[in-house]
Amino acid sequence: MIYSEKVMDHFANPRNVGEIPDADGVGEVGNAKCGDIMKMYLKIDNGIITDVKFKTFGCGAAVATSSMATELIKGKPIDEALKLTNKAVIEALDGLPAAKLHCSVLAEQAMKAAIADYYRRNGVDPTPIVGEFSTDCQACKID
Ligand code: FES
Repeated sequence: MIYSEKVMDHFANPRNVGEIPDADGVGEVGNAKCGDIMKMYLKIDNGIITDVKFKTFGCGAAVATSSMATELIKGKPIDEALKLTNKAVIEALDGLPAAKLHCSVLAEQAMKAAIADYYRRNGVDPTPIVGEFSTDCQACKID
């Protein structure tokens, strides 16, 4: 079995799939390597991510990493969510095969894009907070 039990579980029963129609921030990113796309919706109240949902046209590893990432950021303050790296998501899933590591970047980037969208909607420049990120993972350092 190349996938851990946790990956299989999150792939078979992904958490937080769907849309939030009245989201406070929405981020959409594409994976340059495979063409898959990911959309993430956030509800934010007083700096806390109170709800998160995602939709993806992505592979199983993208589904599993997004599912885990949404579980890890739900209920967290924005600044803590921003510290979540794709490496931490992979660790929480007990690892991913090397060829699938790039898939995990989709969730991290979509979350950052959604948080940036939230700040922009509130008239705040997100760059100093969210940092530079790419909405396609060409910049991703994992190969
Ligand atoms: Fe596209 Fe995994 S192959 S996200």
